[in-house]
Amino acid sequence: MTTRTPLATDDAHKSDMLITRSNREAGAFSPRPSAVKPPLADVSQLEATASESPTTLPTLQQIEAAAQVVYREFQATPQYHWALLSQRLGSECWVKHENHTPVGAFKLRGGLTYFDRLKRRGVLPGSVISATRGNHGQSIGWAARAHGVACSIVVPLGNSLEKNAAMRALGVTLIEYGTDFQQSREHAISLATQNGAHMVPSFHPDLLSGVSTYWWEFFKAVPQLDVVYVPIGQGSGACSAIAAKLALGHKARIVGVVSAHATTYADSLMAGRIVEAPVSTLLADGMACRIADQAALNIMAPHLDHIVKVSDVEVAQAMRDIYIDTHNVAEGAGAASYAAAMQERHLLRGQVVGTTLSGGNVDAGVFAKVLLA
Ligand SMILES: Cc1ncc(COP(=O)(O)O)c(C=O)c1O
Repeated sequence: MTTRTPLATDDAHKSDMLITRSNREAGAFSPRPSAVKPPLADVSQLEATASESPTTLPTLQQIEAAAQVVYREFQATPQYHWALLSQRLGSECWVKHENHTPVGAFKLRGGLTYFDRLKRRGVLPGSVISATRGNHGQSIGWAARAHGVACSIVVPLGNSLEKNAAMRALGVTLIEYGTDFQQSREHAISLATQNGAHMVPSFHPDLLSGVSTYWWEFFKAVPQLDVVYVPIGQGSGACSAIAAKLALGHKARIVGVVSAHATTYADSLMAGRIVEAPVSTLLADGMACRIADQAALNIMAPHLDHIVKVSDVEVAQAMRDIYIDTHNVAEGAGAASYAAAMQERHLLRGQVVGTTLSGGNVDAGVFAKVLLA
C-alpha cells in the first residue's frame, strides 16, 4: 500500500477524505514553511518557539530520557491485541491503552517533560496558564501541582463537565471563555500577558519528547506493526508518532486521523499552507481545532502516509465497538484511531494494525447516549 488512491467507494465525501501519497508526490502535501505565514500574528509572540522556529524531533536518546521523567509518575501503558476488535476489523488489531495513564489520556506525558525542562533550565515560573478542551489541561494541571506552580486553564463555554471537574481536582483555576478552543487559546495568551503567567502551548518540542514515549513504547512492544492510525488535534500525538518511528527506525506507515467536522490539518496539508476550518464535531473534542499549527504541519507533511477523516457517526460506532469488544471506555478522540482503521478495513487485510485509545474521558451522559444510540 505504498501508492494510495482514494477509497474505491461511490460515497463521494469519502473519496474526499484522503490525502494520498500520490497527491503528496504531486506537491499538495509538501511543507512550504517560507511561503506560509500563519494567521496568528497577534497571538504568536508568547508561543514563538512552538510556532515559528523549525521544531526538531526528539532523538532516541531524548525519548529514552523523557521516559525516565514519565515513569516517575506512572508505568508504561499496556498494548493489547484484542481478538474481537481484530475480528471486526478483519486484521490483527492492537490497541495502545493511553486511557490507563493517571489522567486517562496520553497528554500527561507531555506535561511532565515540559515542566521537567523548565525546572532543569532553572526557569520554573510562579504561575502558568494554558487553554484546552480537557486532557492537555489535566496534563498541565498535574505537572504544575507536582512542581508547586499555580495553574490557570481556559476552556470554552460548554466544555466537558467531567474534564472540568478533573482539572479543578488537580488544583487548576478554571476559566470558561469563548465558544471554541481557538477563542480560549487566544484569551489564555492575552491573560498571560496581563498577569505575567507563563503560557504553555499545545504544541512544543518539550511536550513532544514526553508524548513520543507512548509511541516509542508501542513500536518497541509490537515491532511487527505495519500501519498505525493517529488522531490529530493540535498535532503533538501525530508528530510524536513520527519522532518515535524515526528514532527506532520502525517501518510502520503513520496515518493521520482528523474529525470530518474539524478539518484544518487535512485541508492545510492538502493546500500546503494553513487553512482555517470550522469546528462542529459534537463528540471528538480532543480533535476540535480550528487553526493548524505550522510547526506541526512541517513535521507531518513529509512523514504521514495519508489522512483519514472520520465523522461523529463513525466515531460513535467505534466507541460502542471498543466498549463491547474490550469493555474500555473511549472518548470521541480516543476512538477516532479505530474508527479510521474501520473505514479503511478493506485495505488492511493481512496487515498488523496499530490503533490508540488515546483517552477515555467522556462525560457519562454523552457516553450513555452513544451506547444507547
Ligand atoms: C484523547 C485525545 N486524543 C487525541 C488528541 C489529539 O492530540 P493532539 O492535540 O496532540 O493532536 C487529544 C487532544 O487533546 C485527545 O485529548
